[in-house]
Parts: sequence; structure tokens; C-alpha cells
Amino acid sequence: MTDTLFPERERLREELTAAVRAHPVPAHIGIIMDGNGRWAKQRGWSRIRGHQMGARRVDSIVRAADRLGVRYLTLYAFSVENWARPSFEVSALMRLFRTYIVRKRAALHAENARFRLLGRREGLAPEILEEARQSTELMKNNTGLTLNLCINYGGRAEIVDAVKKIVADGLRPEDVTEEAIARRLYAPDLPDPDLIIRTSGEMRISNFLLWECAYSELYVTDVMWPDFDEVELLRAIQSYQNRERRFGKISEQLGNRR
Ligand code: IPE
Ligand code: IPE
Ligand code: MG
Repeated sequence: MTDTLFPERERLREELTAAVRAHPVPAHIGIIMDGNGRWAKQRGWSRIRGHQMGARRVDSIVRAADRLGVRYLTLYAFSVENWARPSFEVSALMRLFRTYIVRKRAALHAENARFRLLGRREGLAPEILEEARQSTELMKNNTGLTLNLCINYGGRAEIVDAVKKIVADGLRPEDVTEEAIARRLYAPDLPDPDLIIRTSGEMRISNFLLWECAYSELYVTDVMWPDFDEVELLRAIQSYQNRERRFGKISEQLGNRR
């Protein structure tokens, strides 16, 4: 079965790659990696197994995005709300994150990638923070794709944290601008995501990049995260390339069709 399906998938990958390369690719893609639990349940497996298989998906997507010229990839791995899950699932996820950061350090570095953890530091285990710090430090002079891993991340929390910094910096009301807030987000130099992908069909943002998603194009697919391969990424980018981003203006003002 796979012998006949695989070449077909490969042909599709090549076709889509050629089509996508003919147009500008999004500089920054955010992904809400959802559906690990349901994917596992469909197979009668534990949710943890779903998360493990989900983690395996990350590599090929990072490589594919980099090859296509995507500059920033922001992956939503654990929200501030996810602490409310059963404690054994939370512990398994935290172990998985730590292992992932350590195991992938050399490979990401070899691919000229940069690495950053996005989220609230308070609440995260010191070991995770330390491993992430080492990865960021090692790769800080690389020039390829930047991988942002969101762990203990919440969009509202990020805005609250930015407002706290504004207060601590003693800004006067007239100095509180959109730029002043944007400069105090977790990654001030990160451009807003051009495209946000959510897997597993849920039509919601679930507290992901609330400030930054103001004008992001949204793409939702029913494919569960552990099944999200390069072909699916290409489909999402192709959908993005067929949109007209108007930023409040009207079509006639934009001067191009894409
Ligand atoms: C996404 O998959 C991963 C995390 C939120 C950590 P889920 O675990 O949410 O999978 P579903 O939505 O239950 O299928
Ligand atoms: C969003 O998925 C968070 C991550 C993918 C890390 P959830 O599965 O937690 O979102 P809800 O609860 O369905 O909105
Ligand atoms: Mg979910």
C-alpha cells in the first residue's frame, strides 16, 4: 500500500513545491499544533503517544519551512491554560519538551537555525529554561530560520507582562503607543506572523499570539498534527499565496493581484 501511495505523495510534494516557490512565501508562520490527543485516541493509543508522534513531526516541518525561505517559525507547544490538564500529561509534556530541546540542539545548529523559547518563565522548570538558554546561546549568530517554541505561553499573559514593563518603565499615558507595547512583548524583534496554521479543525485561536495576529492570515486544516507533513505545509502556504492582504485598504489601492 505505502509503496504505491508514497511516490504519489512525493510527486504532489514536488508539484506543490514548484508552485509555492513561484510566489513570495510568508516570512513568519505560526502553528497551533493541535490534535495529538485525538490522533492517538483514534488508534487506541495513549495521549502521551500522540504527543511523542507530534514531536516527531516538528523536524520535517522546520526543515521544509527553512528550505522554502520562511524566516520565522513559531510553534505553540503548551499554553498557560494547558497546566489544567491531568498532571501525568503535563509532566510527560514537560519531559518531552526538555528532551526535544536537548536532542535537537546539534541538528538545529547544523542547519544554521536560531532557537528561542517564548512564554512566561515563571512556572517553568529551571532545567527547561537552562536547556533553552543553552540552545539560544549556541545558535545566536546563525542566520537561517528562527524557531520559536511557545511553552507556558498565553497571548493575554504576554500583553499583561508588556503592560507591567510599561508601568515599571514609568511611561506617561501619551507615550503608551502600539510601538511601546510591541517593543515589550516576549520577542520584540519578531515580525507579526503572516500566516497562522491550526491543525485538527478547531476554528479558534486559543490564546495564541493575540497581539501579533491582528492581520495574520488564518488557515485551519482537519489534518491532526501528527499527520501534518510537508505536503500539508505547502497547501497552507499555497492558500496564503492566493489571499489578498488588504490591511484595511481596498483592492484598487494595492496595485497588485496578490
Ligand atoms: C496539542 O494536542 C498539543 C498540546 C496542546 C500540548 P492536544 O493534546 O490538544 O490534542 P487534542 O486536541 O486533545 O486532540
Ligand atoms: C492550543 O491547543 C494550545 C496548543 C496547541 C499548545 P488546546 O488543545 O490546548 O486548545 P483548546 O483547549 O482546544 O482551545
Ligand atoms: Mg487540543
